[in-house]
Amino acid sequence: MAVLPRLTSIYERQGFDLTTGLNPTHLYGEISAPFTYLLKDGEIVTHAAGIAVQELYLLEALSDVFLPRHILIVGNSFGWSAVAMALVFPQAKLLAVDSCAETAAAEGLDLTNRIAAAEGLSNLVAIKGRSPEDLPAIAEAYAKTAPWDMVFIDGEHTARQVAIDFNAVRPHADKGALWLFHDAVSYGLLKAVERLGQDNGLIFQPLWRTPSGIAALVPQKLVGQVAMTLHAFAGAEATFRHMRDLGRFGATERLVAALTCPELD
Ligand SMILES: C[S@@+](CC[C@H](N)C(=O)[O-])C[C@H]1O[C@@H](n2cnc3c(N)ncnc32)[C@H](O)[C@@H]1O
Repeated sequence: MAVLPRLTSIYERQGFDLTTGLNPTHLYGEISAPFTYLLKDGEIVTHAAGIAVQELYLLEALSDVFLPRHILIVGNSFGWSAVAMALVFPQAKLLAVDSCAETAAAEGLDLTNRIAAAEGLSNLVAIKGRSPEDLPAIAEAYAKTAPWDMVFIDGEHTARQVAIDFNAVRPHADKGALWLFHDAVSYGLLKAVERLGQDNGLIFQPLWRTPSGIAALVPQKLVGQVAMTLHAFAGAEATFRHMRDLGRFGATERLVAALTCPELD
């Protein structure tokens, strides 16, 4: 199911404008262009961005081959990824937690729950909670009978914190859970995620073809199901490195110069 039309309409009906899926070269190189921001009265509501359009597409493609029963999101912000997953995986229960260090994130929790009620998404709940301190109590309340079998880590983007998040959730997650770490390439989290995979018998797969560079940890029992889909969003690391070198050494400079949308100047 293509989620973007309904997702966009949901936020617009809540009174927001939004920006997502833009091309950095059209915005003077603005690196956050592909990601999602809500705007109210022409101002961005929070800089804690939502996932990119290509990352919605990854979730849709995953839903063709993998149907989780219980999803946990660490880092809700204004609920873009939570509402998207509630739509893409209607059979799954979904819990999104946010520490709400910023006022905007607390408003984001209310917004997410308001959307869930207004849109009949009874599978979605967003709550305040900080990883790792609050996770044991949250797991006791929400995951005792149904361990999480898909976990989306999108809280604080440091190598130390993603390991803390993983280790806090792991005792309450299914052994066969699929783990996705948002922003792993962009924030230099690959080595940390790879190490978590090595220590826990999970297969590490960076998804080079996602704008934030999501990293997946895949249990052996899911490999047959999800490998082709993940490969479509990864490709070969050597190809990614080749394109990176083209960028680094300016081989695409002339092409980019022709693509900067000059008629808008
Ligand atoms: C990048 S935003 C999440 C975006 C969201 N997943 C989406 O795609 O719509 C990161 C969020 O993580 C929250 N956060 C940061 N550290 C956290 C922690 N230790 N526990 C829970 N939430 C945290 C922040 O408050 C912020 O709202």
